[in-house]
Amino acid sequence: MTRPFSFSAGPATLPLPVLDRAKDDMFDWRGTGVSVMEISHRHAAVAALFEQVERDLRTLLAVPADYRILLTQAPPTALAAIIPMNLAAPDDVADFVHTGAWSGRFYTEAQKYLRPHLAVSSEYTGFTDIPPQSSWELTPFARYVHLCTNETIHGVEFFFTPETNGIPLVADMSSHLLSRVPDVARYGAIIAGAQKNMGIAGVSVVIVQEALLGKAQVTCPSVFDWRKLADASSLLNTPPVHAVYIASLVLEWIKAEGGVDEMERRAIAKSAHLYRCIDASALYINHVRPHCRSRMNVPFFLSDPSLTQTFLSGAERHGLLGLAGHRSLGGIRASLYNAMPMAGIEKLVEYMREFERSA
Ligand SMILES: Cc1ncc(COP(=O)(O)O)c(C=O)c1O
Repeated sequence: MTRPFSFSAGPATLPLPVLDRAKDDMFDWRGTGVSVMEISHRHAAVAALFEQVERDLRTLLAVPADYRILLTQAPPTALAAIIPMNLAAPDDVADFVHTGAWSGRFYTEAQKYLRPHLAVSSEYTGFTDIPPQSSWELTPFARYVHLCTNETIHGVEFFFTPETNGIPLVADMSSHLLSRVPDVARYGAIIAGAQKNMGIAGVSVVIVQEALLGKAQVTCPSVFDWRKLADASSLLNTPPVHAVYIASLVLEWIKAEGGVDEMERRAIAKSAHLYRCIDASALYINHVRPHCRSRMNVPFFLSDPSLTQTFLSGAERHGLLGLAGHRSLGGIRASLYNAMPMAGIEKLVEYMREFERSA
């Protein structure tokens, strides 16, 4: 049986060796005689699993020693509230860099927990550009500056780290974590859901500077208080053990494939192949400015929108799944996460060329 390629934005495709290994482990994980889903989170093997995930993330992302790596059940949508609750008081100001749907949602949610200030918005471009930092209006006394370094819906990615002159930068890296090595020391906190490049939904990673811990608002639920979570080595309450286990397999796979630099090399090659096809065609259009085109999420439109549904149905018949654009934008979106092999993009490009010829 030939497996289809899933271009879904998340939950997303997983590396085949990860699925194979999970299948093998299903009935007897690490000699325990049971699956990882049937064991107490207080078992030594589970503590070892959490330590291993933290160690691998630290190595793969070159996380400095004064940063804590937390695994939390809070999805990024909840982190939109949990970040301000952990880092600021209700009267504090935090700056928001609005470059697409996700940074916008975090800005809106933060209004319940602090005084958010919109430092810049690229809404006037239809979220197709990242305005230069010289045009941002940063607040000198802001508690932190929030941005989304890869906008999954609009396909806009940051390829520079903004300068915030000592004010902690907080980045939602949900959809491109592990596709390149960020300069962690330039961020106060980095958050990401696992379901794109690190496994399945159910767990998120928070990488946070130790010095920022211990300031949670009194109303912050204890399980989401990062100080408490750090003190308990992410085992404060019943954690999403299975999602953490899958993350451990994905991290092992990344190491075996050559690490995050290799993931970046592949991401450049894969996305370039698709953007070349789009740019050479009269039918497909990507509106994002070349300097900030995402390597992970490529939204595009057909110049004749009435062909979109035919394109998608044909793609499914060719084993190319999950290509419908986000419901807010329509069109097409191809997500090219680490686990998507070049063969998937080649097949997609071949299909796109064939579809254009016959359109
Ligand atoms: C960049 C980004 N942030 C936040 C989220 C929200 O994640 P969740 O639906 O797991 O809360 C997503 C989901 O796709 C995302 O892509």
